[in-house]
Amino acid sequence: MNETEDIRRKCTDNMVRWIEEEAAASRENGGPGEVQLNRLLFLLAFNLVGNLMLSRDLLDTKSMEGKEFFDCMNKILELVGTPNVADFLPFLKWLDPMKIKRTMVRDMTKTMKITSKFVKERIEEKQAGKQRAKKDFLDVLLEYEGEGKEGPDKFTVHDVNIVIMEMFFAGSETTSISIEWGFAELLRNPHCMKKVQEEIDQVIGLNRKVEESDMDRLPYLQAVVKETLRLHPALPLLLPRNTMEDTEFMGHLIPKGTQVFVNAWAIGRDPEAWEDPLSFKPERFLDSNIEYKGQHFELIPFGSGRRICIGFPLAHRVLHVELATLAQTFDWELSAGVTPETMDMQERLGITLRKKVPVKAIPKKRIP
Ligand code: HEM
Repeated sequence: MNETEDIRRKCTDNMVRWIEEEAAASRENGGPGEVQLNRLLFLLAFNLVGNLMLSRDLLDTKSMEGKEFFDCMNKILELVGTPNVADFLPFLKWLDPMKIKRTMVRDMTKTMKITSKFVKERIEEKQAGKQRAKKDFLDVLLEYEGEGKEGPDKFTVHDVNIVIMEMFFAGSETTSISIEWGFAELLRNPHCMKKVQEEIDQVIGLNRKVEESDMDRLPYLQAVVKETLRLHPALPLLLPRNTMEDTEFMGHLIPKGTQVFVNAWAIGRDPEAWEDPLSFKPERFLDSNIEYKGQHFELIPFGSGRRICIGFPLAHRVLHVELATLAQTFDWELSAGVTPETMDMQERLGITLRKKVPVKAIPKKRIP
């Protein structure tokens, strides 16, 4: 992970540049210099995942593919969270009465077209005999030969396309909405933003940028990230599981084949586990040994056990560095007429938990 830090640095610098460009564009159009962060954060996260897997930058603010992927994913994630009448009345399934399946297939095909282009380009590179200095995730998938007779076979190009698309789905939205929630909480709690900035100023100063290696020396920032994920787990019900056999659990019989959801959102707000659970108080983590690595069941935003998020090492670094960068680089003002008390913090539930109303704020540069 450490050897790819430079690439992440570049993605972070891009984000700062996009923020400045968007603020400047708003001012040029007579606006207050306001920036809506969600799409910029999504592009950042998409490129971070892309860089890790495909060793290249994929999208920028002007790319049509970026916009198309973002819009399709929006729709798909919304549809995944929409109750489907056909699930309750299975005889209606073939009719797809709410057009959920049809719309989803259409949007999935569009996103797959975008990511499969990246895979196709790499295959062509390989066929042309181009050697890469360092293997990345995609090389490993393409070169995988299978594990003999008993194990899985070599992946087909279709399998590789699916894996790559899944990684983008699993990694980009979750990461970007978590940064957006954290940032929104800092705007809504200016005393917390101030503490984050003071900690950064003290440990790093304003003469150099925050780096991943600084994280251990920023305990308040770490507490902010934990508190954000406690209140706003990006996958509030984790991923669905199925019972493989009849199971007895806490006196209840759960029949084989039951779909089981773990409500990480409710666990993070459980008054029996947390004092004053609905308040954003990073301080609660300062003298506590609670981590979110799956061992402390009161805080499981990345899940736990064998299906714990495989992107954890990336997400953990990125959440800290991006929040720290937003706080170190800029002071932030809320849009006209909005105060910390009136900021809209409503959630939009799909399979992921988004902010219903995207955060907008006005950046004022702190560091040269
Ligand atoms: C803040 C960011 C993230 C959060 C909150 C998050 C959360 C989660 C959760 C809750 C799960 C399900 C675990 C379970 O059901 O026990 C999961 C699975 C997964 N995550 Fe993440 N994730 C994040 C970032 C990432 C990133 C950056 C990647 C990829 C680079 C990624 C790749 C995956 C994959 C592939 C799975 C599926 C594993 C499976 O099929 O079982 N995640 N993630």
